[in-house]
Amino acid sequence: MTSTVVTGIGELVTNDATLSVDSPLGLMVDAAVVVTDGTVSWVGPGSQAPAADQRIDLGGRSVVPGFVDSHSHLVFGGDRSVEFAARMAGQEYTGGGIATTVAATRAAGDEELLAHLRALIAEMRAQGTTTVEVKSGYGLNVEDEVRSLRIARQVTTETTFLGAHVVPPEFHDRREDYVRLVIGEMLTACAPHARWADVFCEPASAHAFDGDEARLILTAAATAGLELRVHGNQLSAGPGVQLAVELGAASVDHCTHLTEQDVAALAAAGSSLHLGADGTPAGRGTVATLLPGVEFSTRSPYPDARRLLAAGAVLALATDCNPGSCFSSSMPLMIALAVREMRLTPAEALWAATAGGALALRRTDIGRLTVGARADLTVIDAPSYLHLAYRPGVPLAKALTF
Ligand code: NIG
Ligand code: FE
Repeated sequence: MTSTVVTGIGELVTNDATLSVDSPLGLMVDAAVVVTDGTVSWVGPGSQAPAADQRIDLGGRSVVPGFVDSHSHLVFGGDRSVEFAARMAGQEYTGGGIATTVAATRAAGDEELLAHLRALIAEMRAQGTTTVEVKSGYGLNVEDEVRSLRIARQVTTETTFLGAHVVPPEFHDRREDYVRLVIGEMLTACAPHARWADVFCEPASAHAFDGDEARLILTAAATAGLELRVHGNQLSAGPGVQLAVELGAASVDHCTHLTEQDVAALAAAGSSLHLGADGTPAGRGTVATLLPGVEFSTRSPYPDARRLLAAGAVLALATDCNPGSCFSSSMPLMIALAVREMRLTPAEALWAATAGGALALRRTDIGRLTVGARADLTVIDAPSYLHLAYRPGVPLAKALTF
């Protein structure tokens, strides 16, 4: 048994809502945390910190729960910076560029894909992310989808089968055949390597899947034992949100274009999610995961986060890091965008990037720094977590895990 006491924490965010009446962040000043074998075993005032085998003094810096990036696409080859430049010159994002990445990913070797994935994970850790979900979706044939998931499994247990990302070019004039492949041979081969299944449900894109196709795929995936998440309502209002809520998906991601009914569905789905007294997430509702880096990088209108919060929806924030719609691995940037562009308070944004992400992954061991949680600490080189939004683009956050 090894124990470490982390002292000199100027401000600690625990996400234990019982510690303060006016904030879900459970803030403590001049705090200490004791970690025993990778788990938080004590949290309290620095002056009362017990002795431990090792001591780390943070000299007044702030500590927050490690960021939970619940949505990313990190297994890919190639580069689409030219597509980005064209978009900044006025071209629209339709998802059509995904085919470019599919071709590059199929052509890449395993070692190359894994090395690139590891580099992106290191980039994330260096910015305070301690848990990341990784999707397949750039293989789009049985062999390359399985390969993508096997590679993703080497860095995270939160792997997602996204064979239904888009219809690959070789199936363009026979999309029903592709759906049949996804729910048949591909699902059978991929399910052992994935915890989750996801569908890009977007009738406004010729490349993605409509409501009927998405329902078929998600239902088959659930029958195969996978839990569900959905890309919904990114490019236009569509059936994604309603379907995700109806099928009990853990999260519906993007939520950029919402109708009144969508907001009501997310509010109802949010009300069955709650945090226990110690900040432990519970319930099996659906989280609305917002990905403001996508709106930033595609120059699109941001989701109406205030409307969702006012209605009672539960929000998570994630990067969606991918080579097309948002090639940023930075959770601090997402927090800054959420505050500046979507009018979340810094506290709401930080909560969504930690506890919200944990709910979106149905995890109770992360997203909080309370006794029993995983000791995933993120150190902010500043006196307060407020600096995450106050100092956009400045590398203040770093993961400290045990
Ligand atoms: O979440 N919308 C679908 N999939 C990704 C983008 C993938 C890409 O453009 O390569 C997203 O935005
Ligand atoms: Fe995505």
